[in-house]
Amino acid sequence: MILLGVNIDHSATLRQARYRGYPSTTGGPVEPDPVLLAALAEQAGADGITIHLREDRRHIQERDVWRLRESCRTRVNLEMACDDAMLALALRLKPDSVCLVPENRDEISTEGGLDVAGRPERVAACVAALSAAGITASLFIDPDAAQVGAAAACRAPFVELHTGAWANAWHTPRRAEEFARLAQGAALAAKAGLSVNAGHGINYQNIRDIRGIPGLHELNIGHSILCRALFVGIGPAVREMKRLMNGTPL
Ligand code: PXP
Repeated sequence: MILLGVNIDHSATLRQARYRGYPSTTGGPVEPDPVLLAALAEQAGADGITIHLREDRRHIQERDVWRLRESCRTRVNLEMACDDAMLALALRLKPDSVCLVPENRDEISTEGGLDVAGRPERVAACVAALSAAGITASLFIDPDAAQVGAAAACRAPFVELHTGAWANAWHTPRRAEEFARLAQGAALAAKAGLSVNAGHGINYQNIRDIRGIPGLHELNIGHSILCRALFVGIGPAVREMKRLMNGTPL
């Protein structure tokens, strides 16, 4: 059974579109509340909640993270940059897991994988600090042999394979090629002893392909679930994705 981590960042994007600069992050007119959404997603069967506290605080705010840590009944997966300030925060917060991601100021969402092979010492130090604190570390990487090898060398227990290139190619002739790249990346990671998650751009259509990759532990999905939730509510949106992920009939 593949687990589902629901990424709630874009509910905060919606809130910040109107209430950026408000003294409070919830209550009164300030809506929607991402933490309430997380609770409803959990009730519908989400196996974990994922949030990305970005340096520019464009969506999730620090207060959201602390509130989620207190109220979350499943697992908190914190996506963050591999820098000293975020590491210090993670060590205080103690999320269940941390996924290290690259952060480029101008990107709309995370665009490429973390270049672990390009700065292995820094990433290994971050992984070691998280592991020593009992936090499961995961590295968000492109499904390439060099990155998979570097992730294993950093002693990260998990990788999250970046599915964005495949998702973008889904309606193009490159779809099979990108899928093969992902499947090969997953196989290499498993062979290297890594547990394998995946995420970015997964939706209610392409899920039927991605779930066929052997050995996937968890998928982290945000945009598509929140879009579906606008029409049917977060509960049905989560339940439907969970059924599709594991091939059970609707
Ligand atoms: N995994 C990681 C590491 C991410 O940064 C994101 C958001 O960009 C996701 C998963 C979820 O992607 P999406 O919102 O496209 O489902």
